[in-house]
Amino acid sequence: MTETQLPSGATDVTRNGMNASPARPVSLADLLAFYREAGVDEAVEETAVDRFAVTDRPASRPAEIEPPRSQPAAPPPARQPAALAVPDESQAVRARELARSAASLDELRDILAGFDGCNLKFTAKNLVFADGNPDGGIMFVGEAPGRDEDIEGLPFVGVSGQLLDRMLAAIGLDRSKAYIANVIPWRPPGNRTPTPLETEICRPFIERQIELANPKILVTLGNPSTKLLLAPKDGILRVRGTWREYTTAGGTVIPAMPTLHPAYLLRNPAHKKLAWRDFLEIKARLAAALGDL
Ligand code: URA
Repeated sequence: MTETQLPSGATDVTRNGMNASPARPVSLADLLAFYREAGVDEAVEETAVDRFAVTDRPASRPAEIEPPRSQPAAPPPARQPAALAVPDESQAVRARELARSAASLDELRDILAGFDGCNLKFTAKNLVFADGNPDGGIMFVGEAPGRDEDIEGLPFVGVSGQLLDRMLAAIGLDRSKAYIANVIPWRPPGNRTPTPLETEICRPFIERQIELANPKILVTLGNPSTKLLLAPKDGILRVRGTWREYTTAGGTVIPAMPTLHPAYLLRNPAHKKLAWRDFLEIKARLAAALGDL
């Protein structure tokens, strides 16, 4: 592995820490791990830019990139949303009021798109509201969008989404017959776990989304959505495959099945057989609910 030195402006914690051992060269792997933890998970240019070598203002601009004098003035910089300040509990209250005011899924999506109370919105590229058919009778809820979902603005389109599609197909479903959403509609930077406050701020929206979609069966994918929506005492490996009830704010009771998250199944393929059992249960219950039996 190539060895490299940290750029001059960066701090090497291994050198400055209390128990710092004698200076050791920082490997490229260390540097990449640092970037990954800092949420830098994407290259935006083909060629790397040495930001430490770039000054704010080049001494002399090449004439060809000077804007022509007649060119209209550049538009003013986009307004910084007031909510860029760390959101507080009051945003959860506002979220509840706003979510309650939505009379349809389209309205809910528009409200979410205009909601500035969750800081995740400002690091995400797109709102990831939902995919599929809300009239299909079955709704799947995951945790939060990842990189691919953020780019496309649709839930479960990356590798775990492809596995979810195969699981749906195995029980005769696809996105024209199932509705798919997430607890958190914006990608957390670097796919970090959403904070409890971010989750509380987003909770009223997913709850209203479920209420408006009014599925006959709700499926929670993985521990975070299961914990938030079904509040079981045990973890996902114990509660998966067991029927629960989800009660909407309006009092409608929806049968709900927690199952394993496709991303977990990709890491633990031996557990696919457990998910398969859950999906067979879901298939039978959906057929009964839709009167297909
Ligand atoms: N994982 C999720 O929980 N949701 C997605 O949309 C993608 C991956």
